[in-house]
Amino acid sequence: MKKAFIFLFILFAAMATELQAQQVTVTTSVSDGVIIVENILARRSIRKYTPQQVSRQDLDIIMECAINAPSAMNKQPWQIRVVQNADLLAKIKDLGGNFHGAPTLIVIAKDKTNGSSDLDCGLLAQNIMLSAQALDLGTCALGSVARTLCTDKAKDVTAKLDLPANYEPVLCIALGHPDQSPDAKPRDAKKVKYID
Ligand SMILES: Cc1cc2nc3c(=O)[nH]c(=O)nc-3n(C[C@H](O)[C@H](O)[C@H](O)COP(=O)(O)O)c2cc1C
Repeated sequence: MKKAFIFLFILFAAMATELQAQQVTVTTSVSDGVIIVENILARRSIRKYTPQQVSRQDLDIIMECAINAPSAMNKQPWQIRVVQNADLLAKIKDLGGNFHGAPTLIVIAKDKTNGSSDLDCGLLAQNIMLSAQALDLGTCALGSVARTLCTDKAKDVTAKLDLPANYEPVLCIALGHPDQSPDAKPRDAKKVKYID
């Protein structure tokens, strides 16, 4: 039910974008807001997954959310590769890339010529993780796998991602059905100061 609602919402949003329709008014209630806040607070890095693959329908929703992330001057200095191919995943694992046994690996690549691309890719990554969470899927951001994909020994594997010349992997995301529900790690509230 939740997935069907999100799917319809995304579908309408995508149609509105494509048709350049006049302003679309989305009415939200207080409870919608609460659900969004709960979704943010419930997200945890998942490091154990069931073998069940992520459906194309869920991936389409997550990718629509991904590319709707903000970016400086709307440059969208990212490329996204969704990898479910078992051979390619095995090759990345052989190189030492640890994606915690997730059945899907998302590779986010940044435009090396764009000074804001790290930030923009980070925002895109968060959209991926929060939309996946809303669909009851688990994720884990993986800087280590992106670094592995940038090494010389990974050249042949990374070539299969078909990235434009000025792009390189900046962050990967493990995606799948969670097989654990870890507690939240401690957060330091003292990092926040209200300036009067
Ligand atoms: C940029 C970035 C890189 C990360 N790289 C890894 C990684 O290589 N491997 C891993 O298991 N977790 C990685 N993480 C996940 C963090 O360890 C995790 O977000 C942090 O411990 C907080 O836990 P939480 O996500 O459950 O709230 C990364 C997170 C970020 C934001």
